[in-house]
Amino acid sequence: MLKRRLIPFKITGIDSLGQGVSKLDEKVTFIPKTAIGDEGEAEVMSERKGVTFARAVSLKVASSERVTPTCSHFSACPSCHFQHLPYERELALKSESFDRLFRKFSMPQLEVVAAPERYGYRNRIQLHYSLRSKLLGMRDPQTFDITPIPECLIGTPEIASGLRTLYHNDAWLKEAPKDKTEGHVELYWISGELKKSWNRPYAEGGFTQVYETMNRRLKEILREHFALAPPSEGLLDLFAGNGNLSAVLWYKKRLCIDVYRSPKGGDFFDQDLYASGALKAVLQKVTERDLKISHIILDPPRSGLKDFRIWIETLKPQFVAYVSCDPHTLARDLQGLDGYEVTRSFLLDFFPATFHFESMIFLERKG
Ligand SMILES: C[S@@+](CC[C@H](N)C(=O)[O-])C[C@H]1O[C@@H](n2cnc3c(N)ncnc32)[C@H](O)[C@@H]1O
Repeated sequence: MLKRRLIPFKITGIDSLGQGVSKLDEKVTFIPKTAIGDEGEAEVMSERKGVTFARAVSLKVASSERVTPTCSHFSACPSCHFQHLPYERELALKSESFDRLFRKFSMPQLEVVAAPERYGYRNRIQLHYSLRSKLLGMRDPQTFDITPIPECLIGTPEIASGLRTLYHNDAWLKEAPKDKTEGHVELYWISGELKKSWNRPYAEGGFTQVYETMNRRLKEILREHFALAPPSEGLLDLFAGNGNLSAVLWYKKRLCIDVYRSPKGGDFFDQDLYASGALKAVLQKVTERDLKISHIILDPPRSGLKDFRIWIETLKPQFVAYVSCDPHTLARDLQGLDGYEVTRSFLLDFFPATFHFESMIFLERKG
């Protein structure tokens, strides 16, 4: 058996993934679920490029910021990152992380929209299973270990009840398809019904925002922002899903583009927006439909839109709203964009208790 390697740590910062950062003897160590001021011992999990990733095993000094986590699974579950801190502190850390990333841009003051509830918000949840180890739960992205979470607190009451049913007397073991020893199940609440799908692509039933109250808030901000300058000429909704975001705006003509066309036909067009030739295909559709694009909304997956600058320079909209679930790719995509200014920037806490959040920035063409 390999011997566990223990190292001392002292947390002096928190990174954008919610991990505590310790810099002792000029060695940088990242330790999840710690707080500034914590000191203790951590077990080394891996080392990469001179940086250590570890897990706290004991605390000699506990940070004064710490609170007792609400969920009994918190210390083991890889999905939540901030339950050991008060919600206000979690939000402040997210906001600091955004400001750090966007320091090099000329940005207006960040407007932070807190979540009304820290728990009970997720309307869909994905779990991994292994028939070999007879485990169902959250999978650690690094170790691939599965942690059972029969009582996940971030799910809505309907999702929480679906989870309990799955775990009751190991019901999931009978239900899980036997053709694969490892797989995943998605529980989701859609049109007033709890559904479950095994080993199908994620976001079964089409993409929907996971926090419905925050989704409504996001759309209110969009609608209010464009109330005085509605997309009278033409509105392009990229990574549109079912048109959730653009549906709330006043527009004459709209084109919604997604790799999956949820509603069929009309102003929806299916196109892989990462494919080479995607911009050309979209331009062709815009011309066919005689659209003059004044507004673009885009809401890509975490990978963002690497060629954002080229899209904007080609389509030359007056206004852009970029909604992003990864501020790192948003910052990358804004790099080198000339002729536009960021008029407002928002952090919307769609994923409380975790390090994730949504950002939305509004851009306007100068001159
Ligand atoms: C964050 S969701 C946003 C959906 C929508 N704007 C909403 O508010 O519900 C990202 C969307 O990107 C779509 N998508 C993922 N990969 C894509 C690709 N390669 N090309 C086009 N759309 C893609 C997904 O289907 C999903 O609907």
